Amino acid sequence: MTVYQATASAPVNIACIKYWGKRDTKLILPTNSSLSVTLDQDHLRSTTTSRADPSFQKDRLWLNGDEEEIKDGGRMATCIKEMKALRRQLEDKDPSLPKISGYPVHICSRNNFPTAAGLASSASGFAALVASLAALYQLPTDASRLSLIARQGSGSACRSLFGGFVAWQMGERPDGSDSYAVQVAPREHWPDIHALICVVSDDKKGTSSTSGMQRTVETSTLLQHRIKHVVPERMRAISEAILARDFDAFARITMQDSNQFHAVALDTDPPIFYMNDVSRAIIALIVEYNRVAIANGGKLRAAYTYDAGPNAVIYAPKENIKEIVELIVKYFPQADAFKDPFGVFDGKGVTGKVVEGFNEAVAKPFGVGAVKNLIHTRVGDGPRTLGAEESLLGENGLPK
Ligand code: DP6
Repeated sequence: MTVYQATASAPVNIACIKYWGKRDTKLILPTNSSLSVTLDQDHLRSTTTSRADPSFQKDRLWLNGDEEEIKDGGRMATCIKEMKALRRQLEDKDPSLPKISGYPVHICSRNNFPTAAGLASSASGFAALVASLAALYQLPTDASRLSLIARQGSGSACRSLFGGFVAWQMGERPDGSDSYAVQVAPREHWPDIHALICVVSDDKKGTSSTSGMQRTVETSTLLQHRIKHVVPERMRAISEAILARDFDAFARITMQDSNQFHAVALDTDPPIFYMNDVSRAIIALIVEYNRVAIANGGKLRAAYTYDAGPNAVIYAPKENIKEIVELIVKYFPQADAFKDPFGVFDGKGVTGKVVEGFNEAVAKPFGVGAVKNLIHTRVGDGPRTLGAEESLLGENGLPK
């Protein structure tokens, strides 16, 4: 008997122009366009296996080993339903195709990074779900078409259907048919963009993106200014910077937009704070690092950006990553040795130091554990279809 099964992996993405606000909460239609860098799946990814089988009783889902309920009418159920509908269209057109759209599916998904790291896993998770179902159903691989469905799982997930530099065009139609992701440039266009993720320790339960952005839409007047007068021009300017490989402009816009996102969070009633003292100290270090470069006649060398939590993501050309790791480690001593996937330290240890001319008084040193972990990665490719040997489901259709 034929087994209808497929496995795919999908990357994390971190926005430079932030998505924050929905005009339609059910269809997940945003109040502004956004733009992100896809990170390398060799380091951070979600992997998902989907299988369709007439013997299954119902659709079932396992996330990182635990079964999760697929709530009727919920985001997960919507994505599965939409993918089955695309398969049904194919089957209707070509009667020789096996009619698997009617079979229940078992879906098993895993992240290769700890959820506790506070890194957004919904984007890579929904992208991997959609990519694995697209492979299972042998759908034509139009990533923008698939992004329309991933978007309904989690807005930011639509951007993880592409590698490289990706825009989510907000669209204007009420049915959402023009609200999808497009690739601005593939990773090969600018492979020199690396990222250092500073995993910041967080003991309090933060406000989720979903509820936080809705409160911002309802109460912030600054958000209205942002979506009307700021984001459209920034989308144009950062796309141009990417096409021209202009890091100075890319970095300036990225930092400005992170700042404005956290400003609209603060402008929400009651106010929302995602950054903490550690996040702000990292901003001070990057600002000073850039100041020294400019004082020496250079340009911006690094850009920070923060999502709905205290973790920092620092984008920089590869050649600057070594100095940035040294800088972060000086102020945030690490319990574990820096994992050096690109060998920028050439086997030598990190000592923790600042560049010449750096004003050390811009931040106070913190204790071990304030920054729990440093992850060095870079711009990466889009979802990958994997071989049967990578399957997360056993022969019996249950997690291995
Ligand atoms: C701050 O995509 O997680 O990371 O659509 O409600 O699932 P939902 O929200 P989500 O929000 C991400 C917000 C952000 C900015 C961004 O990724 O653009």
